[in-house]
Amino acid sequence: MKSSRVYAIILASGKGERLNCGFPKQFLTIKDKTLVEYAIEAFEKNKNVDSIIVVIEPASREKLCGILAKTHYTKVSGIVDGGKTRFESSVNGVNAVPEKGVKVLIHDAARPFVSQRIIDDTIQALDKYQAVETAIRATDTIIERNDEFMLSATTVRARMMQVQTPQGFSLEVIKMAQEMAKKDKNLEATDDCGLVFKYGICDVFVVEGERQNIKITYPEDILFANYVVNALNF
Ligand code: CTP
Ligand code: MG
Repeated sequence: MKSSRVYAIILASGKGERLNCGFPKQFLTIKDKTLVEYAIEAFEKNKNVDSIIVVIEPASREKLCGILAKTHYTKVSGIVDGGKTRFESSVNGVNAVPEKGVKVLIHDAARPFVSQRIIDDTIQALDKYQAVETAIRATDTIIERNDEFMLSATTVRARMMQVQTPQGFSLEVIKMAQEMAKKDKNLEATDDCGLVFKYGICDVFVVEGERQNIKITYPEDILFANYVVNALNF
């Protein structure tokens, strides 16, 4: 897969219900930019990324276009409609990639502070692997519970990791995983690499993420976002 072209797909079609800020959270402004701009800019800046596709709900398309019109981004090559779930939005983004044999990175617009190191490591790992996950070491011990809220499984914390994005794939692998997922009656798809693993399509390599690569999910996460931008000068 060496030197194949790289597409970044930015998923920005969620409603942000847990953040509940009155509008979709990707349009939340931290200092001088919206979350979706931070996310796009990370891939715009990266010299190994060739093209960016943004997935957005139709009702917000105009708003996004208005924001992009004020920027100098040159890599945004497509804006496509999102779906009802993250999985559907991800499928729409992948289907919008116009060429074969490329590397695809899928990233949450709600993760504004992804580093160039993570993007580079993911792209580089795709020279060797066809699916690459970003994850950080869990700090809390992870347990599993059943529907009755009884502990049903324990885990060894040292091996537990929490999943982030970007997640990288060869285009053909993610397409195959998504096709299989469409037929899956027990689909729980919050993690694209998880599909590749679940259907045994290929090995999935894990790149170390960063705690700063937070997904803005709950109101208190905005405090951290302001800290990153203002105190750390992101
Ligand atoms: N996403 C998407 N299409 C959807 C749902 C989610 O593109 N139908 C995107 C979100 O915009 C976000 C990413 O997937 O960038 C991660 O999802 P999440 O954090 O769950 O965002 P929301 O779904 O917007 O938030 P919530 O679940 O609280 O409503
Ligand atoms: Mg969601």
